[in-house]
Amino acid sequence: MKVLLKTLGFSFSLTLLFTFVTYLLPQVEGEAPVEKEVDLSALTMDDFISMGEELFNNKGTCTLCHKPAPLGRAPDIQGADMVALSGERLADERYQGQAKDAADYILESMLDPSRYVVATWGKKGTNDSESPMPAIDKPPIELSKIEIDAVIAYLQAKDGNEVTVSLPSAEDAASVVSAEEKTTVAATLPAPATTIEEALGKYACSSCHALESADTLVGPGLVDVGSRLSRDEIRQSIVDPNAVIAEGFPAAMPADFATKMTVRELDMIVAYLVEKK
Ligand code: HEC
Ligand code: HEC
Repeated sequence: MKVLLKTLGFSFSLTLLFTFVTYLLPQVEGEAPVEKEVDLSALTMDDFISMGEELFNNKGTCTLCHKPAPLGRAPDIQGADMVALSGERLADERYQGQAKDAADYILESMLDPSRYVVATWGKKGTNDSESPMPAIDKPPIELSKIEIDAVIAYLQAKDGNEVTVSLPSAEDAASVVSAEEKTTVAATLPAPATTIEEALGKYACSSCHALESADTLVGPGLVDVGSRLSRDEIRQSIVDPNAVIAEGFPAAMPADFATKMTVRELDMIVAYLVEKK
């Protein structure tokens, strides 16, 4: 199932995303080992969420325990809205942890499962004081920080909740070690546009905007957009087009570029438009 991310209210910190990190990838089975460089700044939020779903179902082994009753040996968190459920957990008087929001709660549940044990799901004989769930950053599951964030992103996004974790930072990317993780990242990489023409074509900007004149198509002509809007305003009009609607125009610009574009594509397009004066 491909996760559909509701983009309304979607936000993630772009400042963390300026990664120009490359690292080595294992080759496809059967091929002679050749070094291949992969750019982590080519990961979009959609890819990251798919990666989380993949980890949840496979390497993370979450579905060994977390599945629908009566088979489940743990709460069915894929069948529940984990963000809404987190709110209930935090409001429970038995809750003694440190979490302040859903992302924290999900993280804490993964790293320190006994911190709060969902009623009736504790180890037998411990009166719900000890969880049977293993800490998933430790062997044998041993998810990395990037992988854990991807799982959180998936659990938030699958019910249309805002994703609050960030895409991997440069430091996180540098710490990528496991072969499985590299494979998961590689499997989800899109083909990023490498030139401004490719980028504008890939996202069909010119179907709605005249780029070399002030003519109105669906949206305003962009020939002088750099003199009308600041760099930040241009960036915002792409990643969050409904924040400010250009006067006299319908709110017809697609609102999901933020989840589709790679950081580099967005930078390239913004840099190109800023120069249009
Ligand atoms: C060996 C079984 C087992 C595995 C594997 C497991 N869990 Fe759990 N998990 C549990 C049980 C049992 C609970 C309920 C008791 C508790 O609160 O710790 C739980 C609770 C949770 C909760 C809190 C649920 C709530 O309703 O508040 C989250 C979130 C969670 N697990 C996530 C995960 C993720 C993500 C993975 C995979 C990376 C995973 N678990 C793997 C057994 C497991
Ligand atoms: C389906 C049509 C459509 C597509 C595709 C589209 N836009 Fe737009 N765009 C609009 C409309 C309509 C507006 C005016 C309403 C608004 O501000 O949201 C707009 C507004 C803008 C603005 C603000 C212009 C101003 O003068 O305030 C910028 C910048 C922009 N778009 C850039 C882009 C870029 C870059 C792409 C491709 C990545 C793109 N648009 C794709 C329809 C579109």
